[in-house]
Amino acid sequence: MNANDAIVHTSKLTKFYGKRLGIEEVDLDVKRGEVFGYLGPNGAGKTTTIRTLLDFIHPTGGSATVFGLDTRRNSIEIHRHVGYLQGELKLYGNLTGKDLLRYLGNLRGGIDWNYVKKLASRLDCELSRKISTLSHGNKQKLGLVQAFMHKPEFLVLDEPTQGLDPLMQQEFYRLITEARNEGQTVFLSSHILPEVEKVCDRIGIIRQGRLITVETIEVLKSHAVRQLEIHFAGAIPKDRFIGISGVRDVVVENDMLRCNVIGSLDTLVKVAAGFEVVNILSHEPSLEEIFMTYYNEDKNNVK
Ligand SMILES: Nc1ncnc2c1ncn2[C@@H]1O[C@H](COP(=O)(O)OP(=O)(O)O)[C@@H](O)[C@H]1O
Ligand SMILES: [Mg+2]
Repeated sequence: MNANDAIVHTSKLTKFYGKRLGIEEVDLDVKRGEVFGYLGPNGAGKTTTIRTLLDFIHPTGGSATVFGLDTRRNSIEIHRHVGYLQGELKLYGNLTGKDLLRYLGNLRGGIDWNYVKKLASRLDCELSRKISTLSHGNKQKLGLVQAFMHKPEFLVLDEPTQGLDPLMQQEFYRLITEARNEGQTVFLSSHILPEVEKVCDRIGIIRQGRLITVETIEVLKSHAVRQLEIHFAGAIPKDRFIGISGVRDVVVENDMLRCNVIGSLDTLVKVAAGFEVVNILSHEPSLEEIFMTYYNEDKNNVK
């Protein structure tokens, strides 16, 4: 396999559940060695995409390859090199965590058990209780250990931090960074923008079954509208703030300026610095607002 090959490549990948849309015409590439975030609200089609890639469900249109192998014909070979955390974890409830890891590890073979122990301890994993008695967060941690335990070439993690407490989330982000440093490729889905921002190189945004865009975080943010509120020591003239590139919807009330900014804040901040600034409040764009930016751009681009 060529080292430059895309780890994932999909072509018009489509899945309908009967008449119900799962995903439609998704064209996606995940590059070797990157951490790719698959971002979208609940019901957007994240799990559908992942399950199709791993051949747990079959596409109703289009096709996909993982490691250059066709997902329909080569799923067994693909699974050998994938670590997978499923969205709604349903594990063998009667086993203890330790039993489960032993069982899965023996199926795979070639496991470094010292590494597994280290993983379990880093994630503070409850290994001696029956899985059916574990909280969602503890199941999730076990799910993560089994996804990472064989140091797979490709990690596919469906909403991996759901149910993890903040400390464990930090540990998880460290695991992802280490995986990237080891040259592993990561595909992780999430509905939380700050989370993918933290760890991902690129993100794809999916909504209502359609992949809206694939970008680096920097580019996404530079397209997004940010709300800014600047408080000054005294009244300011509104006209000085009109006509600055990227700045719109300017409202001035005595010593307060409110506006929307697209892209760099630099020019606005330099104009503001001509007056005594008391406070600057910046409202970071939410996932929904970034979606809307893209939707509006789409509309504007319609000829
Ligand atoms: N087994 C199924 N049968 C019918 N519709 C489904 C099934 N699984 C998912 N869907 C629908 O497909 C769409 C995408 O769901 P899903 O891939 O689970 O989204 P996400 O993982 O982003 O929350 C939703 O509208 C959902 O209701
Ligand atoms: Mg899901």
